[in-house]
Amino acid sequence: DFVGWALLVSVALLKFANQCSGIDKSSFPDGFKFGFSSSAYQMEGAAHEDGRGLSIWDTFCATPGKIKNGDTGDVAVDMYHHYKEDIQILKNMGTDIFRLSISWSRVFPGGSTRNGKVNPKGVEFYNNFIDELIKNGIEPMVTLFHWDTPQVLEDEYGGFRSDRILEDYTEFADFCFKEFGDRVRKWVTINEPSIFATHGYLNGQNAPGRCTPPQCPAGDSSREPYIVSHNLLRAHMRAVKLYRSKYQKEQKGTIGISVHSDWYTSYSTQEIDVAATRRVLDNTLGLYLDPIFFGDYPLSVKEIVRERLPVFTDEESRDIKGSFDFIGMNHYVTLYVLDNSTNIVLPPEGDPKDGPLPDDPNLPDTFAIQTSTALIPSQACFKDGVPIGPSEGGVTYWRSYPQGIMHLLNYIKEKYSNPPVYITEIGFVTLDKGQTAEELIRDEERVKYIKETLQYTLQAMREGSDLRGYMIWSYIDNFEWAGGYSNRLGLLYANYTSSNLERIPKSSAIWFANAMNKRPKKS
Ligand code: NOJ
Repeated sequence: DFVGWALLVSVALLKFANQCSGIDKSSFPDGFKFGFSSSAYQMEGAAHEDGRGLSIWDTFCATPGKIKNGDTGDVAVDMYHHYKEDIQILKNMGTDIFRLSISWSRVFPGGSTRNGKVNPKGVEFYNNFIDELIKNGIEPMVTLFHWDTPQVLEDEYGGFRSDRILEDYTEFADFCFKEFGDRVRKWVTINEPSIFATHGYLNGQNAPGRCTPPQCPAGDSSREPYIVSHNLLRAHMRAVKLYRSKYQKEQKGTIGISVHSDWYTSYSTQEIDVAATRRVLDNTLGLYLDPIFFGDYPLSVKEIVRERLPVFTDEESRDIKGSFDFIGMNHYVTLYVLDNSTNIVLPPEGDPKDGPLPDDPNLPDTFAIQTSTALIPSQACFKDGVPIGPSEGGVTYWRSYPQGIMHLLNYIKEKYSNPPVYITEIGFVTLDKGQTAEELIRDEERVKYIKETLQYTLQAMREGSDLRGYMIWSYIDNFEWAGGYSNRLGLLYANYTSSNLERIPKSSAIWFANAMNKRPKKS
């Protein structure tokens, strides 16, 4: 059949191309982990099965107009029922490590034992999943919080807006360490606190969909993102403290956090834009990494946000400093930064390729111009803490700039004294605008991006970065939050219209398997 032949031909061609470009597993040091990332709500489906409780994402998806095409994660790619098959595919592709998240409300349908019991079916599912991975030689990395706050806790006290979440999150973390920690050696406390805080509480694009009225029915965009960020950081700190004091010695695992790590480059060489770029980095990465490395928020953030920025107590500051064994970096795009605190003319919105680009040959010409964005307010993008100008266009503006990962790794190495890092997500989006399956399966651009980012990753490692692994988002197309199913990021094509949610390897899956010295099979 066509797919079979196409695969055979592609394998041969890609093998040849690999030999020429020369990047594969053997280019990396022994022990370097290759794999994939996933999250519960985006992959599992089975949203109303086996006693799972609701999360804020179930509620958000059920709200008309919030998700593209009215999509929901009710079924997703049904990883809940397909995990064994998926793990075979992953194994055949040569996967070393797989990052999954535990749905809090599948394990605690009531969010905590105050509101109900542990759900044994949920626990069983994750035990089986983890065992199946290990049985097939794939190491699990487990994220505790990938944005799916139990709805009960959102209703009860406002979820992450309240510090009551700390106790409930710690109970959940404690349970997971106790139940799964004999086999899980890598824990991620929180996934992308910045995106959860900004998209959930600044622009309202993600659950729980809060921002200042009238754009959203309730919320306060100037304060809530900081309150939520603060509580996420404190939750992270509590989980690390607990793990270290109660489990780490015996279980011998490691724990860290995954931060959203866009790279930023100045739109011009003028000092005003260069300074704005530094502020944006402080306001995105620094907002989370500075407390974890130095015990407090960056000075530039304090100066801009002033009384709206919560303050760590001395004890918290001591506890949060050093609360990591590794840092997880999720990297997708590179953005220009332009200072807008003075009377500047903003570049036009839209495809930056159509806009005027600076006449600097060193600047890439294929990434987004950030005029104003869904970031925590900074002088660069906001005036007096208030967003001005149009907001970032979201996923449709993603531009791949493979060098970005290298700049980022170098920046982290310099600023934070070279911590152990895993790339916990890197990926390439294809917008499904109704192309045929055959077209979407031939994802040569994704192959190119992966190869190039691996080259730049390797270069950063040669220059000294302590990088331990590279995990692609993701092994399969899935529910891309507000973008629904139209944003495809997988190495396997998910055939959403087939009754068994057929998984078909794209060119990138074949390339990956070859680079890992394996051969993928069709499901
Ligand atoms: C970041 C998030 O952690 C993940 O949930 C999302 O699907 C990918 N990036 C792609 O946007």
